[in-house]
Amino acid sequence: MSLTVLTACIYAESELEMKFEKDLLGLKNLNEEQILYVIDTARKMKMLIDSPNKKSPQLQGKTIITLFYENSTRTRMSFELATKYMSGNAANISASGSSVAKGETLIDTGKTLDMMGTDIIVMRHPCSGAADLLAKNVRASVINAGDGMNEHPTQALLDFYTILEHKGHIRDLKIAIVGDIKHSRVARSNVYGLTRLGAKVFLCAPKTLIPPDMEKTGAIITTNLKEALDGAEVVMGLRIQKERQNSGLLSSVREYHKFFGLNEQSLKMADKDAYIMHPGPVNRGVELASNVMDGPLSLINEQVKNGVAIRMALLYILTRRSI
Ligand code: CP
Repeated sequence: MSLTVLTACIYAESELEMKFEKDLLGLKNLNEEQILYVIDTARKMKMLIDSPNKKSPQLQGKTIITLFYENSTRTRMSFELATKYMSGNAANISASGSSVAKGETLIDTGKTLDMMGTDIIVMRHPCSGAADLLAKNVRASVINAGDGMNEHPTQALLDFYTILEHKGHIRDLKIAIVGDIKHSRVARSNVYGLTRLGAKVFLCAPKTLIPPDMEKTGAIITTNLKEALDGAEVVMGLRIQKERQNSGLLSSVREYHKFFGLNEQSLKMADKDAYIMHPGPVNRGVELASNVMDGPLSLINEQVKNGVAIRMALLYILTRRSI
């Protein structure tokens, strides 16, 4: 498919875009049709990333601002590149380099950006619910790039896309998510979406890293790694946030790896062809052994690439819905 055909074909599909809300705050309220539509659009967008001329006109005249109150490599850069690949105007603000450092409130910062003609604000914030608060106070669309321990919807969407590329389906797959579930917005968004798409999701962590509310999501919660990995076709590691050790939730990262680490030995319990995923950044030797991370079944690099395609799709869909 040429890029001209790709552009025409994407432009033709506008009916479903209108079914999206102004903002993408989480996957809790996104239905299967919407999730699959984002992934289908990303599939077309991915051609552009692979092409020698990474420029298409879909975001011409649109302005996307990334507003990050926490560190990021993958999410922030992929939104910025996604915007540039589609000819949009990209700008970034980090909390330390802005008037936030002088005490400006989130709402005031949002309204200031809104007045500058911004079409989409992509925000990461340490507080759960911050993206929702911003969305209610600005005209621009808001995409949640991670809010506290709540959700990280674009990460989960790129995870689903990567699983679909390699397994062809999600329904009835056994997917084990192992790591710091308690503090993980990635785990929450994945569970909401994967259970909606029909996967059997197992969440596994030491007892201190499992939040009480996860029982209600439809996932199976366990502290037994064997139960989680037994026959799993996809195994997703989550970052063990080293700062959590200080709060007494983990005795040591070495001990964590001994009982919950994903390595050649523990992965013998999973399906022999089980794919390995991780949202990144990875603590090598803690949640994942280095040779597993770099091994033939690791999809971690694919996740990064698909992250750009998913973010291109979302920027495109949310700017189209306002036309
Ligand atoms: N997975 C993820 O959100 O990575 P970054 O923190 O680098 O954006």
